[in-house]
Amino acid sequence: MLKPEAISSMVLERRRHMHRTKNENHPAVLAPRIFADSAVIEDIRPLVEGGIINGVTTNPTLLKTAGAQSWDQAKSMMRDILKLMRPFPVSLELTETEESAMLIQAKELARLGDNSVIKVTIGGYRGVQNKKNADPFTGLKVIKALYDSGVRTNATLIFNATQAFWAANAGATYVSPFLGRLADYMYKNDQPERAPGNSLYWIEDHKNSKKDQSVFNSEYVANGGSRKDAGVRLIHEIVTIFANYDIRTEVLAASIRNAVQLTECLLAGADILTVPADILMSVADHPLTDIGMASFLNDSKAFSEK
Ligand code: E4P
Repeated sequence: MLKPEAISSMVLERRRHMHRTKNENHPAVLAPRIFADSAVIEDIRPLVEGGIINGVTTNPTLLKTAGAQSWDQAKSMMRDILKLMRPFPVSLELTETEESAMLIQAKELARLGDNSVIKVTIGGYRGVQNKKNADPFTGLKVIKALYDSGVRTNATLIFNATQAFWAANAGATYVSPFLGRLADYMYKNDQPERAPGNSLYWIEDHKNSKKDQSVFNSEYVANGGSRKDAGVRLIHEIVTIFANYDIRTEVLAASIRNAVQLTECLLAGADILTVPADILMSVADHPLTDIGMASFLNDSKAFSEK
């Protein structure tokens, strides 16, 4: 189980310098921002109009789910979301995988709206089919080039703190650790005879079993404990490292699956939570709140009957 110590003074000090959307007198002035993780404009509209969110993250899967069947349709949806959300940031993901094409596409997406943020996959370029010789630094180079030309970036598909650090070092505005997918992976792949989180610490090369185990995540993250909250521990690890070095790249907790993970991200010190619309719709609810409200309303009839 995540055992967050009292938030360190370094974490709090860093928060004092981070982006704010509330005025100085607001009681939650240092609170993290909430984004919607969605490409469905009908879901996003009430959330922004109600003041619940001040940003959106999209990705190709979310755009496909929202109905996009071509790049032109996807661009049109992204343009509409950017317009609705102005001036709040909207992350739009690159689909090109070669540096020069990525930079051209980044400019195309940046032109869709001045509140766009370009989502760049941190790695994985050698894993893409027929790209075995791809430059492993492609994502980092693109982030750096976009930083140099004043374009904001969101380094996506982050699964360990090393990736987050390198993305920040390249100039990323945001890093997106995918905590839900990390926890899902661990649930599925942990070997029960080993310590919890073993599948994250040693991601074994199943296809080439002669190869020895490789270390991919810290023992801190891997040591998820009985509740297997490795995803949230990753957030805590990145926040701590960023506080150690006063790195101002924002930690955008992504791939959130439920309200409990959301709470744990707050305990871990995330700068931004990007949350699916259906989870956002449920944050004000609790079964005991329902029961309590029904009973208070029932008792209040006593006043109206007199
Ligand atoms: C973040 O920016 C991503 O769009 C998102 O959180 C991915 O979440 P998933 O694991 O539910 O696909």
